[in-house]
Amino acid sequence: MTDFKPRIAARQDAWIALRRDLHRHPELGFQEVRTAGIVATTLHNLGLEVQTGVGQTGVVALLEGAADGPTVLVRADMDALPIQEENEVPYASQTAGVMHACGHDGHTTIALAVAELLSAHRAELAGRVKFVFQPAEEIGRGAQAMIAAGALQAPVPQVSLGLHLWNEVSVGAVALVDGPMMAAACDMTITIQGRGGHGALPHETRDPIVAGCQIVSALQTIVSRNVRPTEVAVVSVTEFKAGDSFNVIPASARLRGTLRAFRTEMIALLEERVRAVSEEIAAALGCQAEVAVEQVTLPVINDTGVNERLAAVFRAVAPDVRLIRNFQTMAAEDMSYFLEAVPGAFFFVGSANPQRGLDYPHHHPRFDFDEAAIPLAAELLATAVASYVLPGAQPERAE
Ligand code: NI
Repeated sequence: MTDFKPRIAARQDAWIALRRDLHRHPELGFQEVRTAGIVATTLHNLGLEVQTGVGQTGVVALLEGAADGPTVLVRADMDALPIQEENEVPYASQTAGVMHACGHDGHTTIALAVAELLSAHRAELAGRVKFVFQPAEEIGRGAQAMIAAGALQAPVPQVSLGLHLWNEVSVGAVALVDGPMMAAACDMTITIQGRGGHGALPHETRDPIVAGCQIVSALQTIVSRNVRPTEVAVVSVTEFKAGDSFNVIPASARLRGTLRAFRTEMIALLEERVRAVSEEIAAALGCQAEVAVEQVTLPVINDTGVNERLAAVFRAVAPDVRLIRNFQTMAAEDMSYFLEAVPGAFFFVGSANPQRGLDYPHHHPRFDFDEAAIPLAAELLATAVASYVLPGAQPERAE
């Protein structure tokens, strides 16, 4: 197997410095202009053929090997979140209200490190590696935008790989899961139309707040009473907006939330029940409910064959890494669109370090991760890609 360790040891400090620079300058979805510029320049300097502006701020780069062979897609995401950072670290966000609170600064760094590691072996490569740096993962739009802009064409990849740093898992462990790993997600909006009026004269109104409260309560029965108990699903109301005064019953209320499941059929069931419960409860209370459901991501489904190869690679290159094979989360990822089009694997690289206080959850204002995950993730991903395009890089023994 190709040994990337000496180069990783020599370069890891520079990669961590890059991650900190990206962390200092977070950018929201479809606004990743500075980040995309750094990505494009770095890849160009490595000698890759770079395309910018793919799906607005996305970057695609091709590392062409000397001989023919398969095309492997490596995907990373670049966007940050609308969160005010509360960490007091030298590399804290310098942009008010915007923060890399999900680790995408790490993902961008890791994919650039992989490009660097593999481009050093260009003369031995049989095939090519297509690096896809996508915008707007957090709003579930970037992958689709890049695919619509042709990111999966010319050349068409045969396998797609990606990873997420994951703070539910400690650094030194990796979750590599067959089949469904992350949930399909839908945004739901329930608009309740009533009749407003004086707070002291409720009998003359049709109160959308009371209807909304009943709807929120009744939605809790969908998972407990309609979903087969051995399956998983989530219905969460995350926003309830109505009224702005002590003595006025408003004319309307708005609920928003999320639906999650691993199967498309289950999403359809959740949607049907949300509609029926909302419309009929609203009607019973003299109001009208209008339900809008929009799919944000597909489920992340990993290919078992690709996973088997990766498991063997990881065991061979990093025998000390604890490999977790049964880990599912209802969090969502638009990597699902790449995996739907091109079979592959998306895995979690553990990034928490509770002893150092680096275990806040993703999307928390104090989220941060153990940077030791960066060189490890780069090694695992580079070796996984190499197993396809570097002859002789296959692990000796598959388990
Ligand atoms: Ni993320």
